[in-house]
Amino acid sequence: MERKKLTIEAIKDKKKSGEKITMLTAYDYSMARIIDDAGIDIILVGDSLGMVVLGYDSTLPVTMADMIRHTQAVRRGTKNALLIGDMPYKSYDTQKLAVENAARFMKDAQCDAVKLEGGTESLEAAEAIVGSGIPLMGHLGLTPQSIEKLGGYKVQGKTAEAAKVIIEDAKKLESAGCFSIVLECIPNAIAGIITKELKIPTIGIGAGVDCDGQVLVTNDMVGLFDRFVPKFVKQYVKLAPQISEGVKRYKKEVESGKFPTKEHTFEIKTEELKKV
Ligand code: KIV
Repeated sequence: MERKKLTIEAIKDKKKSGEKITMLTAYDYSMARIIDDAGIDIILVGDSLGMVVLGYDSTLPVTMADMIRHTQAVRRGTKNALLIGDMPYKSYDTQKLAVENAARFMKDAQCDAVKLEGGTESLEAAEAIVGSGIPLMGHLGLTPQSIEKLGGYKVQGKTAEAAKVIIEDAKKLESAGCFSIVLECIPNAIAGIITKELKIPTIGIGAGVDCDGQVLVTNDMVGLFDRFVPKFVKQYVKLAPQISEGVKRYKKEVESGKFPTKEHTFEIKTEELKKV
């Protein structure tokens, strides 16, 4: 059956009908094709790119140029999923910068929407982006671009006071016009309250089953990035050991002359070879 391209409206409708929303990250063409073919609703080119692909210790060094380059590759591999570009650190410090950079995701990488991190502190940027006609996803809770301020990768909203701030921020982002919000690393019960109180869908990562949808970093989910595995990650496959096994067999076979065989080799007719 021919699948239809996912739209923002279709994503919002899933909340109304109680259908769960699926979202994964991608950073290149090959992975985007696999995820898109599997029928995932939303592909996010996350700034987690910095850690799982570029090898930085945090997402802070990621630039707009990095994001655009990788989002263009993902775009080429994405047919049906809604494609979201993640605005990197410092790319939405002012309303002007926010609109300019969001527009680059839309024009240069043909995104369907963009995402930014933060609540009250990002509200002006959020309003400017939505005001310019660009669909926006919010991101609350553990926001990796504020890792210094948050004091590390910790669960957020564990006190009543902190939880209330996240709930209020979610309402503010909804009022600013976000079409959906990612909730990262917050208690299940708080994510449940936000999900009930908002009309727009919530997408959880380490926020429990009551969110309207779930997102994981694909490289974590397929066991490709195993420098550390957060508690909220489920590894559905473990690719790193499989790849390592393949690489070791290749090395052994090249060194022993077992690869390539006739099957992987091109021939030339004897009469042509004689002329050479
Ligand atoms: O950068 C990213 O991959 C993200 C997801 C974890 C939501 O923001």
